Amino acid sequence: MLCLGNICRSPIAEGVLKKLLKETTLPSFNNHSWQVDSAGIGDWHEGDLPDPRAIRVAKQHGIDISDQRARQIRSEDFDRFDYILVMDEENLKEAKQLAQKSGQHQQIKMLMDYAYPGQKIIVPDPYYTNRFEESYQLIFEGCQAFIKSIVELQN
Ligand code: 4NP
Repeated sequence: MLCLGNICRSPIAEGVLKKLLKETTLPSFNNHSWQVDSAGIGDWHEGDLPDPRAIRVAKQHGIDISDQRARQIRSEDFDRFDYILVMDEENLKEAKQLAQKSGQHQQIKMLMDYAYPGQKIIVPDPYYTNRFEESYQLIFEGCQAFIKSIVELQN
């Protein structure tokens, strides 16, 4: 899960996807178990806890994200993870610049494309707008649709 600062959207997305995966019986993928992590494009918040407003909205939905610490994305993430799920067009552009090896571009997907294919829906940055519940709802829809797409791939 990738956003700009790794303190608002992607920590929520990491928490939501981990919770949904626990509730879903998914077979292993490409013969390995699921690993979910989040990161930011920037390094300004490296080592920081998620924003208190992100911790609060996740908690309101039964998810504890207070054990997370922010980090910047690294090129090895493209080797470690099959999917790099981004929140908006800016993340998409930056992630594509990081994806050096051929084939790595295809690992990058907009999270909301799973729920609303082709509609270019983003998870807006709630940092300045304070709209954390709206971000949570979008992220939840995106994660549900992502899991559904994996189940369909495996059937
Ligand atoms: P995020 O939100 O990308 O969802 O973690 C932001 C957090 C911090 C900043 C920008 C966006 N910032 O400018 O510090």
